[in-house]
Amino acid sequence: MRIPGLAAALCVLVYSVAAIDLVPGDEASIKSAASTIAFGLAKYYTGNNTGDTPGNLPDPYFWWEAGAMFGTLVDYWALTGDDSYNAITTQAILHQATDKGDFMPPNQTRTLGNDDQGFWGMAAMSAAENNFPNPPPDQPQWLALAQSLFNQYASRWDTEKCGGGLRWQIFTFNNGFNYKNSISNGCFFNIAARLARYTGNATYAEWAEKVWAWQESAGLIDGNYTVKDGVHVRLDSPTCDTMDENQWSYNAGIFLHGAAVMYNHTDGSPQWRERVDGVLASTMATFVDPSTGVLVEQLCEPSGFCNLDQRSFKGYLTRWLAGTAQMAPHTRDAVRPLLEADAAAAARSCVGDAPPPDFRGHPGTACGFRWTTGQFDGSTGVGEHMNALSAMMYTLVVSEAAAAGNGPRPPLTADTGGTSTGNPGAAAAHDEPSLGYAEITLGDRVAAGFVTSAIALGVVAGSAFVII
Ligand SMILES: *[C@@H]1O[C@H](CO)[C@@H](O)[C@H](O)[C@H]1NC(C)=O
Ligand SMILES: *[C@@H]1O[C@H](CO)[C@@H](O)[C@H](O)[C@H]1NC(C)=O
Ligand SMILES: *[C@@H]1O[C@H](CO)[C@@H](O)[C@H](O)[C@H]1NC(C)=O
Ligand SMILES: *[C@@H]1O[C@H](CO)[C@@H](O)[C@H](O)[C@H]1NC(C)=O
Ligand SMILES: *[C@@H]1O[C@H](CO)[C@@H](O)[C@H](O)[C@H]1NC(C)=O
Repeated sequence: MRIPGLAAALCVLVYSVAAIDLVPGDEASIKSAASTIAFGLAKYYTGNNTGDTPGNLPDPYFWWEAGAMFGTLVDYWALTGDDSYNAITTQAILHQATDKGDFMPPNQTRTLGNDDQGFWGMAAMSAAENNFPNPPPDQPQWLALAQSLFNQYASRWDTEKCGGGLRWQIFTFNNGFNYKNSISNGCFFNIAARLARYTGNATYAEWAEKVWAWQESAGLIDGNYTVKDGVHVRLDSPTCDTMDENQWSYNAGIFLHGAAVMYNHTDGSPQWRERVDGVLASTMATFVDPSTGVLVEQLCEPSGFCNLDQRSFKGYLTRWLAGTAQMAPHTRDAVRPLLEADAAAAARSCVGDAPPPDFRGHPGTACGFRWTTGQFDGSTGVGEHMNALSAMMYTLVVSEAAAAGNGPRPPLTADTGGTSTGNPGAAAAHDEPSLGYAEITLGDRVAAGFVTSAIALGVVAGSAFVII
């Protein structure tokens, strides 16, 4: 907007109040900027309103993205000390954990993927690692929730097809059951590695090794440490020879961080170091825009065809890059300039406005999706705000103060002060499925198929446009 003369001068004053004032490396300015964006992010959430369901974001957001948002808010509290959103976060996680203490709410059955559960499980794991205030003793505990998901994953490991791996969907009647994808296996890997580190129980580390080995054997992590999207299961043979080779930033990030946790847990094993360095190099080569030095969701961002889910991926890569710098400190020098460039670029994008429901935060602080343009690109939503909040707050993890030991406390373990109560036997395999195939009507199957294939098509379309 351009307004000449005196009006312009007045506007500059007004806008300088609204604009995000973020100085990389300056803790106070980062926390203040993060607080502004967290406010706008939380405004998308309606689950704590009377009559609404705690843990759900309004349409069109899927259930998993709410889990991702609460994971982000757990970290927001841990990094800034601002507990404004702790109450909604606890309420949401506990409600979605259901009476059984697992993340399998019957309301989500018709589209429930292993990856969807994973984003809630990782939120619980972050809560345990950061001593997020523990729930009352009669409620599920953070660590036990992550363990219950681990146990469900282990029980679903499928050696009949592709020599192992988790399928994407959990239930046979959902489209996507015949796809084994990196994000589902990445959630298993990431949670297993973190449980190994937190509890010291060797079983978790063995599973982390096993998931990584399967990813490599399936070709989903190749010799260049490129992480590809998934393999299709064939009904007529145990081999899986059709691959979706697309590279999404969150797939690289989730394996990068899990590998860094394993590197740390093994006191710096050379093999895990090589894997960390390999995925990091591949990530830098693939997801950093060479001209501006900031993250880009390369498959769909340049064409403008990222779907709702994909518009949140950069935030998770940011979270996992910061976690990698913490667990494998030799990567900090490589990660820090990227995160700081992202934070500054995100701040420049958070100068927009949009009418509700597209934005309800402080006027003039709506965040856009692209960080490469130096301005607000008009795209707003939970993903855009989660990405920007992540870009800003995770710089605290890699700052000079952090390098000197005065930064945020690294994730805790049971031995270093973690207080969350575990339950290694939580949610045994026989708890599922809660809804048998026979109970599902044809109409349900059509509905489920419609929803999941719409997601899959979105993914394909996002990349097809790039290729065209
Ligand atoms: C829901 O939580 C927000 C904090 O994000 C709070 O401002 C709001 O008052 C809460 N709404 C209700 C109905 O409690
Ligand atoms: C499932 O849906 C019902 C009806 O909308 C709601 O009352 C309940 O809280 C939901 N449960 C979960 C775990 O989301
Ligand atoms: C690794 O990357 C190089 C250079 O792009 C390429 O020539 C090679 O085929 C790749 N190797 C694998 C296993 O994909
Ligand atoms: C593991 O992480 C801690 C916390 O950041 C760090 O101090 C330690 O050096 C790491 N270990 C290795 C082997 O890098
Ligand atoms: C370690 O984890 C495994 C897998 O969940 C569990 O069966 C076993 O009881 C655990 N061991 C201990 C000592 O907690």
